[in-house]
Amino acid sequence: MRAANERQITELELSEHELGEIRMLIEERTGICFDKSRERFLVTRVREHLQARGFERGTDFLRAARKTNVEYEALLERLLTQETTFFRYPAVYEAFQKRALPELHIKKFWKNPRTLRIWSAGCSTGEEPYSIAITIADTLSFADAWNVEILATDVSRVALKHAENGSYSGRSISSLSEAQLAAHFNPVKNGQQAKPRLRKMINFTQMNLASAVYVGRMDVIFCMNVLIYFSEQRRRSLVQHFYDTLEPGGYLFLGHSESISKMPVKFQAIVLNDCILYRKPTAEELQKSDSQKTDSQKPDLPTEGRS
Ligand SMILES: C[S@@+](CC[C@H](N)C(=O)[O-])C[C@H]1O[C@@H](n2cnc3c(N)ncnc32)[C@H](O)[C@@H]1O
Repeated sequence: MRAANERQITELELSEHELGEIRMLIEERTGICFDKSRERFLVTRVREHLQARGFERGTDFLRAARKTNVEYEALLERLLTQETTFFRYPAVYEAFQKRALPELHIKKFWKNPRTLRIWSAGCSTGEEPYSIAITIADTLSFADAWNVEILATDVSRVALKHAENGSYSGRSISSLSEAQLAAHFNPVKNGQQAKPRLRKMINFTQMNLASAVYVGRMDVIFCMNVLIYFSEQRRRSLVQHFYDTLEPGGYLFLGHSESISKMPVKFQAIVLNDCILYRKPTAEELQKSDSQKTDSQKPDLPTEGRS
């Protein structure tokens, strides 16, 4: 049966030109690039999609996708890589807990309201924003006295539905300790569901990172394992958008294989154990470093008494 299906899929009409058009459509709308290394994945998923939706040729799909968002989004869902787990990179959460949160705690303690705004951009099925919420709940003294707002966004409606439900099982929660499960989850039929205290902190919203949407000022941004799928140009404009969105003194966390070196933004890169975090300098810090630069660039002026 499987072999027959595979044969049908490979026999579907999909020319190089049609594949190129589909690739361009996805890249234009989402920023996701399918280069040579991901070509096989693209071809297989597109063919599967055409067959599942009853399209005989690539052009039939393209015509439909340009007419309605439903067709386009259905294919997009198949092309997204949504791999994630709780506390995916422990070093990142340690840096968040030991560096970013204590700084923000001092900076904001006397503010009224005492608000902390965090953006999980490309949050997939929610493990990342829930890990952020758990870290905050376990770290901030009197966490409930803070107004914690975690904006969790993704382009995938399917992933967000899962995230909003907050129920997890198996491998996805295997990195959580017994104590974390007991403190932050309730057992449900097929696993564990995040308690209302965590869920109250998170607002899940569908958002496409390819169109720079205004989300208000943020104290911390997590955008992990998303930029790797984008073109260099799109990465640059997104990192600039993150810079503009952060409060002075705010932090950006990226995935392990993502870096902003060679980008013209003025983040300070801080290395902590296994993690690089990017801090947006304050206006005074920028001014100080600019004046230091100017001083060192000044030619040596003749001083009195010099011969
Ligand atoms: C590999 S997952 C990363 C999940 C999580 N950040 C982590 O590191 O575990 C990448 C996520 O980025 C999302 N994504 C890809 N392109 C996007 C876009 N243009 N706008 C918003 N989200 C996007 C995907 O839907 C997917 O959920």
